[in-house]
Amino acid sequence: NIKACIFDLDGVIVDTAVYHYKAWKRLAAGLGFDFSEHDNERLKGVSRMRSLEIVLECGGVTKTDAEKEQLAAQKNTWYTEMINQMTPAEILPGAQEFVQSCRDAGIKTALGSASKNSMTILNKLNIVNLFDAIIDGNKVSKAKPDPEVFLKGAEELSIEPQFCVVFEDAIAGVEAAKAGGMKAVGIGDANILHEADMVVSGLDKVTLEQLEILP
Ligand code: G6P
Ligand code: MG
Repeated sequence: NIKACIFDLDGVIVDTAVYHYKAWKRLAAGLGFDFSEHDNERLKGVSRMRSLEIVLECGGVTKTDAEKEQLAAQKNTWYTEMINQMTPAEILPGAQEFVQSCRDAGIKTALGSASKNSMTILNKLNIVNLFDAIIDGNKVSKAKPDPEVFLKGAEELSIEPQFCVVFEDAIAGVEAAKAGGMKAVGIGDANILHEADMVVSGLDKVTLEQLEILP
């Protein structure tokens, strides 16, 4: 009775966290402090502006709204320079195959990402056509854990939320799926993503049969 699968992008289809991290680290260095890999975990699934606020908080730095806009734009320039170099080889193991297997089984597919750079990344990976609907950071006003991004995906696919499964690597994303009345498959660590109905290490470790027996 699964009719749609909705996929987060960063950390599920592709590992862009490393590029986000490099760009934030460079920004922090310019402001005179170091940004650690540990703190980078807090940015997963979080919008660009909120990420900046977390980074500034880590450095104990305060900025005006205008300065924040400028800093976020600078980070995004560095980030887009890096993602423009991406190739299909960077698609995470099993991701393309799993999304395709959903389509082959008649299950609708959607992207549900907070990133405003989603289209650039999908184009670089050459997988735009894998998705029946694409909801990205340009289409939503409320960030995860608000379910807006996934509810919009379900709506565009014309599938009721209870028939949707969301694939997410971020705590906020799993919370968003559950808040929207959907099933959630966590991608990562079961101790961190404990609200998910099931947790796997990657899309190479999940089958359609497993989805059918989700609670
Ligand atoms: C995803 C990533 C976050 C990122 C956000 C916004 O949710 O996990 O780390 O901050 O997208 O990305 P953007 O490309 O719009 O800056
Ligand atoms: Mg993610």
